[in-house]
Amino acid sequence: TTIYIPKDAAALALGAEKVATAVTAEIAARGLDAKIVRNGTRGMVWLETLVEVVTSQGRVAYGPVKAADVASLFDAGFLAGGAHRLSLGRVEDLPFFAKQTRLTFERCGVIDPLSLEDYRAHGGLRGLEKAVAITPADIVKTVTDSGLRGRGGAGFPTGIKWKTVHDTVADRKYIVCNADEGDSATFADRMIMEGDPFVLIEGMAIAGIATGATKGFVYIRSEYPHAIVTMTRAVEIARAAGILGAAVMGSPNAFDIEIRSGAGAYVCGEETSLLNSLEGKRGVVRAKPPLPAIEGLFGKPTVINNVISLASVPVIMDKGAEHYRDFGMGRSRGTIPVQLAGNIKHGGLFEVAFGITLGELINDIGGGTASGRPVKAVQVGGPLGAYFPASMFDTPFDYEAFAAKDGLIGHAGITVFDDTADMLKMARFAMEFCAIESCGKCTPCRIGSARGVETLDKVAAGIEPQKNLELVTDLCNTMKFGSLCALGGFTPYPVMSALTHFPEDFAPRPVAEA
Ligand code: NAI
Ligand code: SF4
Repeated sequence: TTIYIPKDAAALALGAEKVATAVTAEIAARGLDAKIVRNGTRGMVWLETLVEVVTSQGRVAYGPVKAADVASLFDAGFLAGGAHRLSLGRVEDLPFFAKQTRLTFERCGVIDPLSLEDYRAHGGLRGLEKAVAITPADIVKTVTDSGLRGRGGAGFPTGIKWKTVHDTVADRKYIVCNADEGDSATFADRMIMEGDPFVLIEGMAIAGIATGATKGFVYIRSEYPHAIVTMTRAVEIARAAGILGAAVMGSPNAFDIEIRSGAGAYVCGEETSLLNSLEGKRGVVRAKPPLPAIEGLFGKPTVINNVISLASVPVIMDKGAEHYRDFGMGRSRGTIPVQLAGNIKHGGLFEVAFGITLGELINDIGGGTASGRPVKAVQVGGPLGAYFPASMFDTPFDYEAFAAKDGLIGHAGITVFDDTADMLKMARFAMEFCAIESCGKCTPCRIGSARGVETLDKVAAGIEPQKNLELVTDLCNTMKFGSLCALGGFTPYPVMSALTHFPEDFAPRPVAEA
C-alpha cells in the first residue's frame, strides 16, 4: 500500500511532519507492508494534513489529520480505505477539487515531487520533447497563440515577451524566473516549486530553447526554505538525467539553471530590482526603458517570467495552443490558479478558467468567511490590489473586467475580510506597507507613503477630516502617476477603493477608537 503525506510548507505548518512520523511508527509497530510518499499539496489547505491512501477505488483521503488521530486511522483499517470520522472519500470527488480545471497544477499533490519517473508517467517532458523538435520561432508562436499572459500580475502576453528576446541579437541571453512571491494571500508559486518542480524546470528549458538563452536563474524568496531545497535537488536530478546541461534532451541546445535566494525585500519582486539583486547589487528599481527583454541581466536580453507563466508552458506545448486558449473569456485565456486566503472557510488553491465570478469563488467555492460573519470586503491582487465590496461580486475573473472597476487580478491572491474589518485601518496599512517596502528611488513613493500614513491618522483622529481626505486623494493621484514602479504606483488602489466603497469607515470616530 502507498500512503501519501504532503511535505508542502503549508502542510508542515499544520503538523504534517508529526503525522508522517506517527504513520511510520504505526507501520513498524503493526508490522505492515506500506510505503510513504511525501507529495506536494492538493491545495485544500483547510484539510491539511490531508493523508491519501491508494485503494482499489482510487486515492482515498482523510483529513485534517493530526498525529493523535493516526492510531485510530490504523484501527479503522484506513490502508484499505476503511471508514473513519476523518474520511473524505476519493480526492477527485471532493467538490473543491472536482470543480477545478487543472492544467498547470495537474500533477501537484499527485506525484512524488522529486521522482522523474513519476513526472514522466504523468505526462511530464512531453512539452520539452515537442519543443526540441520544432524551430524556436514556432515555439514562440505556440506560446503567443495560446494567449498566455504573465501570471505575476501585469498580464503582459508571454509570447510577445519571448519574441522580443528571440529577435534581439546578443552573445548571451538569460531566462530569469521570478519566484519572489511576496503578495499577501499568494502561494501558487511555492506550491508548484514544492509539489511539481520539474514542470518549472521544463518550462524554463523551453523558454531557453525558444529565445536562444543558455542560462536560467530561479530567484526564490528566502522565506521559502522548503521550495529552495526542493528546487535545488530537482535541478541536480534534471542535470543528471540530461534534461539540463550541454545537450538538453539530447538536442544541440544547451541550457542550465541556478537557484538563487532573495533577502526579504518585497520590491525585489519587481523585475528590475530583482535583476539588480541577482547581479549582487542593492535591490533598487531601474528605469524602463530599456526593457529587460532588450537589456536585462548583466545588460543582456532577458526573459523574466513568473513561476506560473513558465510552469504553464509545458502543457501548452504538449496539448497545443488551442487546447489552452479554449479556456477563459475575452483576452484572458486559459486557467488561473486563484488563491483563497484570509477569513475564508475553505482556503486554498483553485485553478479555474478565467470568467468565474468573484462571488462564486468566495461563497460557492470558499464557503464564505471562516468566522461565519458576513463578508465585508475582499482584496484581490495582494497588498497593492483594490478592496471589492460584496456588491461587486458579479465581477468575472478577467484582467480587463477588473481593470474596468479600478482593480487588478495581480497574482490572483484573494484575502477575505468579514464585517469587523476597519477599512480606514486597511487603507493606513497600505500606506504603511509602501513606506516600509519603498526602495527610496522616487519621491512620490518614498515621501508620499509616509505622509499618507500621517494624513490618515489625522482623519482617524477627527482632525479636519474633509480636508485631510482630499489631501489623501490628491496624494494618491501623485503616487499613481508619478511613481517609477508598481509599489508606489499601485498603493493608491487599496487606499482609494477603501475610501470609495466604505466611506462610512472614514467618518470621524470617538478618540478612544482612533
Ligand atoms: P509592466 O506592465 O511594467 O510590465 C509587464 C512585463 O512586460 C514586464 O516584464 C515588462 O518588462 C514586459 N514588457 C512590456 N513591454 C514589453 C515589450 N514590448 N516586449 C517585451 N516585454 C515587455 O508591469 P510590472 O511593473 O512588471 O508588474 C506590475 C505587476 O506586478 C502588478 O500588476 C502587480 O499585480 C504585480 N505584482 C506581483 C507580485 C507577486 O508577488 N507576484 C508582487 C507585487 C506586484
Ligand atoms: Fe522605489 Fe517606490 Fe519608486 Fe518603486 S515607486 S522605484 S519602490 S521608490
